Amino acid sequence: MLNEIKNICCIGAGYVGGPSMAVIADKCPYLKVTVVDLDQTKINNWNDSNLEKLPVYEPGLKEIIKRRRGENLFFSTDINNVISSSDMIFLSVNTPTKTTGLGAGEASDLKYIESSARQVAKHARGETIVVEKSTIPVKTAETIQNILVTSKNKLDSNDNNKIFYVLSNPEFLAEGTAISDLYNPSRVLIGGDNEKAINCLHKIYSNWVPPEKIITTNIWSSELSKLTANAFLAQRVSSINSISALCEVTGANISEVSKAVGMDNRIGKEFLKPGPGFGGSCFKKDILNLIYISKFYGLSEVASYWKSVLELNSWQQERIAKIIVTKLFGNLSNKKIGILGFSFKANTNDTRESPAISICKDLLEEGANILIFDPKVSEEKIYNEFPNLASNKKLNLNSSKSVYESANGSDAIVILTDWEEFKDIDWSKVDNLMRSPSWIFDCRNIINNREIEKTNLNLWQLGNNS
Ligand code: NAD
Ligand code: UGA
Repeated sequence: MLNEIKNICCIGAGYVGGPSMAVIADKCPYLKVTVVDLDQTKINNWNDSNLEKLPVYEPGLKEIIKRRRGENLFFSTDINNVISSSDMIFLSVNTPTKTTGLGAGEASDLKYIESSARQVAKHARGETIVVEKSTIPVKTAETIQNILVTSKNKLDSNDNNKIFYVLSNPEFLAEGTAISDLYNPSRVLIGGDNEKAINCLHKIYSNWVPPEKIITTNIWSSELSKLTANAFLAQRVSSINSISALCEVTGANISEVSKAVGMDNRIGKEFLKPGPGFGGSCFKKDILNLIYISKFYGLSEVASYWKSVLELNSWQQERIAKIIVTKLFGNLSNKKIGILGFSFKANTNDTRESPAISICKDLLEEGANILIFDPKVSEEKIYNEFPNLASNKKLNLNSSKSVYESANGSDAIVILTDWEEFKDIDWSKVDNLMRSPSWIFDCRNIINNREIEKTNLNLWQLGNNS
């Protein structure tokens, strides 16, 4: 019943569903929170007594799971029964870009949202609040409401007590800092038109989020704000990356430029770190979605503005691969390249859209042997990102257990992820292990170049050729 939320269900036990529900369970011990998923292996891993097997790596997550699992936090594949006993249901399923049909390559594929909404329509009992947590196109709430009401009528015409309230509550956590972002969110956004339903969700967050940080809007503003926030963040990364290329040809230093620009309060210093381009499952797909919506409403100039953010991002990755080839005398065959970092950013095991994938592909095309080291990404996960490589070519792609194994006998080291441990590499040891002439490509600007100057290593740093 509204006002008395006791049982919460979250459909989708991924990077958002798992951590966000763990934090709700932690902060609201009076609630029973169950996270459900179709993927049995994933659920088994969430339930495994060995916490190293959790499907998501996030600093601080293991500790919460240890505290709450089996107390008021559960992971299950018994989706229908959990839906039936829930007062509030979060939809936290994946919303990838459509690969075929109308809007392919741009529009969001809502098949997972739609199928979970149908399941909710069928199995929910009484009054249920359905919360969109997934990132979705503007006006999706209308689709969800439509599915809930029409399927309910057809499936269960005798159950007149079934009532649904749809809210939008987009998630703003970033991977690698998910737990601290969830504990101290910059804001919690609730979009909707039913005051009672909004109050129920507001009450849950009020257990730990100060009231001034919980904002309510109409549902469409909430949906569009999420896409806009991601587009603005991605745009800043493309902006600074465009300037990194200009620094390399003019002799300016990107770290100095970034600092000088970011000290203007109106601009701010966050999201001005140059790198191999943004990765992650969301920036690209959310901007594609924005492009699709803009075109749909006839706003072609808006669409092309956002398209350029994506184009710059791909260009940055291509140009890094070209620079590596050029520095290694235009030839990579019979050369070994150690890649440091494969996740799309530090402190996560997520490799979706990681810039490392496209850069490694380009280097493999040139005939390089690649040895990848990432502190948190498994060998299996790395191979899964190269599904089209023939198995004989896979021999050119291996994973290693340490920085020094990747360096052993290699002609170049390429730093692609900003893992903390890459800041403390023993460069004289690396120098001894590598084949000469040896190159270090620091695509995250994390190396202290004075340490490199003490060795025979050649250093290329993104946006800094002075
Ligand atoms: P994910 O792929 O890690 O998890 C989604 C899960 O949903 C999968 O485990 C999948 O098996 C499950 N699923 C799909 N359909 C289902 C169904 N009908 N029933 C039960 N389970 C089903 O995705 P994610 O990274 O957690 O992202 C989820 C949503 O949150 C996306 O819309 C994304 O844009 C948004 N988002 C993601 C992040 C992030 O950092 N990853 C941050 C903010 C918002
Ligand atoms: C991003 C947003 O920051 C979250 O607010 C949002 O909820 C989430 O997307 C989502 O909707 O999925 P995330 O992708 O996890 O979070 O990570 P970010 O910290 O935003 O980094 C994205 C990419 O940009 C990474 O590849 C990162 O290395 C790169 N980046 C970021 C830079 O190259 N430079 C920067 O200054 C910042």
